[in-house]
Amino acid sequence: MNAAARHAQRYERVARLMPLAEWDAHFEAIAAVEALKRERNAVVLAHNYQRPEIFHGIADFQGDSLELARQAARSTADVIVMCGVRFMAETAKLLAPGKTVLLPDLEAGCSLAESITPGDIRALRARHPCVPVVCYVNTSAAVKSECDACCTSSNAQLVVESFGAPEVIFVPDEYLAAHVAAHTSVRIIPWQGHCEVHERFTGQEVREYREASRAYVLAHPECPRDVQDAADYVGSTSGMIAALGRERPERAMLITECSMADNISGAFPDTEFLRPCNLCPHMQRITLAAVRASLESLRPAIEIPDSVAVGARRAVERMLDLGRPRGP
Ligand code: 13P
Ligand code: SF4
Repeated sequence: MNAAARHAQRYERVARLMPLAEWDAHFEAIAAVEALKRERNAVVLAHNYQRPEIFHGIADFQGDSLELARQAARSTADVIVMCGVRFMAETAKLLAPGKTVLLPDLEAGCSLAESITPGDIRALRARHPCVPVVCYVNTSAAVKSECDACCTSSNAQLVVESFGAPEVIFVPDEYLAAHVAAHTSVRIIPWQGHCEVHERFTGQEVREYREASRAYVLAHPECPRDVQDAADYVGSTSGMIAALGRERPERAMLITECSMADNISGAFPDTEFLRPCNLCPHMQRITLAAVRASLESLRPAIEIPDSVAVGARRAVERMLDLGRPRGP
């Protein structure tokens, strides 16, 4: 199938979001990225919050943080383009150290990753000696290198309980920590980091919208506790997709980043997706133009010094090992 036919076929996935003329305006950039991918032997990984033209136009794999990390670890490409934020690109580099990992805009950060430093982890350890430290994947590689294990929103409880310890330090997301604490007997020692996108939702607005629309409500665990309490389902971005697949609701409200509902609406033609939602300014920095420039120049490439990479990789691999089937 040639590029034009492929482009026309993909329109089905975004037809609910944009007129054909808008999709066609992306054709030249999408075709250029596809050609560069072949030339560079590159793979494009896209988080569920990416713009629809990236998610449906150029991504080879889409998913939540855990799925993208797994894809990076098993990729055979020479170049990985992370259409996501910096901590995701760093995680990919930790798992695929021999590959070129591109983050098309280095300014694509994360308020959670900014909320804690390696020094903070050392201070927590001094205050709570012998207590294991679990860090959310939304942290810098330098912070990961100080922690015992990393987790994502889809395996946080599993990772916390894997230590068999009575208490665990869990950083940096206070609300994800509260979500885990509500589902485990392990005492959680939290940090006060927040996601600037999810902390803006309130329980009252969710209850009001829900009352007015009778929608099925799905919230990300980075939302405040009262928002989680007002939701029918709380889980990672891919967990939300799976829950929608099971429930097939007539109306759904995804209390998370706006692109998420846009990206999946084509797969759920019988579901009406309602607001509220908030945009992540960091995810939005990744554009087709930035991906194209990055594949042309092979920059900006992520580099992690060995002094950080060894410990950070251990923390990420401990998490991935928990999800692997055990041998006989
Ligand atoms: P997921 O792992 O659920 O995709 O979440 C990543 C993220 O940054 C949510 O804000
Ligand atoms: Fe970070 Fe929040 Fe953006 Fe996710 S949505 S990347 S947690 S700022």
